[in-house]
Amino acid sequence: MVGKFLSQSCGGHDGVCDFCGPNVRTKIMRNIVAGNWKSNKLMSEALKWMEDMSPWMPNRGHVEVMVAPPTPYLAMMSSDAPKGLSVIAQNVSSEGSGAHTGEYTAEMLKSCGVSGAIVGHSERRARFGDTDALVAQKVRALVSEKLQAVFCCGETLDQREAGTAQTVVHDQLTTAILGLDASALPFVVVAYEPIWAIGTGKTASSEEAQAMHASIRGWMAETFGVEKASEVAILYGGSCKPSNAQELFSQQDINGGLIGGASLAPLDFQGVVEGHPASQQA
Ligand code: 13P
Repeated sequence: MVGKFLSQSCGGHDGVCDFCGPNVRTKIMRNIVAGNWKSNKLMSEALKWMEDMSPWMPNRGHVEVMVAPPTPYLAMMSSDAPKGLSVIAQNVSSEGSGAHTGEYTAEMLKSCGVSGAIVGHSERRARFGDTDALVAQKVRALVSEKLQAVFCCGETLDQREAGTAQTVVHDQLTTAILGLDASALPFVVVAYEPIWAIGTGKTASSEEAQAMHASIRGWMAETFGVEKASEVAILYGGSCKPSNAQELFSQQDINGGLIGGASLAPLDFQGVVEGHPASQQA
């Protein structure tokens, strides 16, 4: 496990990192745990969550911690967030400013201190008309503002059972990521979320998840080259919790997680972050 992190970087340094070793230039690898609250919590509960997280934040080690609260709390949370906590949105408009009632642009998010947004979540794809093409536009809207695009991909149970999971995920990657300039990659995070594992309590086994992550990394390497591919964080999402986080995050190509239910209670979320081997490094 140490080897894994010695050959990679913590994501938290721009120069040479003590943890990663004196010969390893940085920006090679990021470790990220992001909470996706979905449509949960009232404003008072969001404030309490931040209050409870605040004293713990220095314990995150070399893990980038992000939270995606409901849209109405974004500006407040990003201005009050404790050091080290990045606030991201759960969605963004594919459009720029103009007559688009109900939409909010990447530039608006940036003006509120928001660091990025989740795009292409399966719940939005299934219920709110986020097609592959729309998701691709949203990715571009974010990266053009130098905001993080946490791009979600993943297959249904039927697709997995039919043996097409990898093709489905590669197709999603092709539509959303292919054609981006390599200079945009520092703003891209991929979240592999098998749909059958979301909110079901059924987690992909660490072998299943690692196999898909390796295949996503392979797609990235073919598209952008090995070095650039190694810089993209690939997160796992789907019933990830304190009890399974360590095993998942210890896999070679799993750089962290996108956490739904277990991000709502601060102690659970902290437990998930603490499951990341990179959280143990001061
Ligand atoms: P759960 O962790 O609740 O399964 O949700 C995962 C998810 O959809 C995160 O975006």
